[in-house]
Amino acid sequence: MLAHTIEEVREKRREWKGLKVGLVPTMGALHEGHLSLIKKAKETCDKVVVSVFVNPIQFGPSEDYDKYPRTLDKDYELCSKEGVDLVFAPSPSEMYGDGGKLSNDTLTYVCPPFFYVNKLCGKTRVGHFDGVCTVVLKLFNIVQPDYGFFGQKDAQQVVIIKKMVKDLNVPIEIVQCPIVREESGLALSSRNKYLSQEGKKDALVLSSILNNIKLCYQKGITDIEALKETAYSFLTDKHEMEYLEILDRNTLEEKSKADNDSIALIACRVEGVRLIDNTYLGER
Ligand code: PAJ
Repeated sequence: MLAHTIEEVREKRREWKGLKVGLVPTMGALHEGHLSLIKKAKETCDKVVVSVFVNPIQFGPSEDYDKYPRTLDKDYELCSKEGVDLVFAPSPSEMYGDGGKLSNDTLTYVCPPFFYVNKLCGKTRVGHFDGVCTVVLKLFNIVQPDYGFFGQKDAQQVVIIKKMVKDLNVPIEIVQCPIVREESGLALSSRNKYLSQEGKKDALVLSSILNNIKLCYQKGITDIEALKETAYSFLTDKHEMEYLEILDRNTLEEKSKADNDSIALIACRVEGVRLIDNTYLGER
């Protein structure tokens, strides 16, 4: 079933009283990465809701909100094939009222702590995680799921959402799912659609850098700067590096040495497309 209004979702939720409900929040343009979350939700829950909403308040003024791929018909078909019980695809005005006109002055926001936001993607995407937390909490309140499914692909996002759920006593269990990659190693992303064939090849540098850091760590190098330096030999003038960090995977804290709880995270532009990826150093 496809629902465009909050009331339709509430009605379904009332029907599902007593059942275990899972929510997979997405911005659509679904790929195998999203489908892996949906499959996990199907395994865990009696009923699965997928939200498809390109959330305007998590995009900066110079970001790709207008050109973000919107493929609802295809998304709905994919969800139906996976046995999703409800696809919730609201309009911006259904979510934010006021004809979808948004203003920081009139909307109640959820602002995650500065410590988690002032690093990695949050440094260049100012206000991004306020927008993410606000929409995710709204979706949680609308759907009232028992479980929320998120991908490790957006590692900072999951850490921040887990923190929000803990700090605001939201009675929902967050399930984190591993990164799905193309055979080449490229992490699947809706933004890969913007890349040319050549760009896709250049984009392999992200996973190559991360794999190499992991290999070096597993061979015994724990000095963070030394591990980060191994990246330089992979970069060409096709790559515009935004960050490469090695942090604690649960708290996003810096450490003096890498250990089995470390995560390496990278953001890099290729053909002007901002790509992110990460890997846990302790994982084989
Ligand atoms: P979106 O980018 O559509 O991603 C939806 C979910 O799919 C996120 O939890 C993301 O981590 C996961 N995902 C994306 N690519 C993946 C991959 N290659 N492997 C595994 N999981 C992957 O993230 C968002 O939307 C939005 O910020 C949202 C949470 C929906 C709030 O608007």
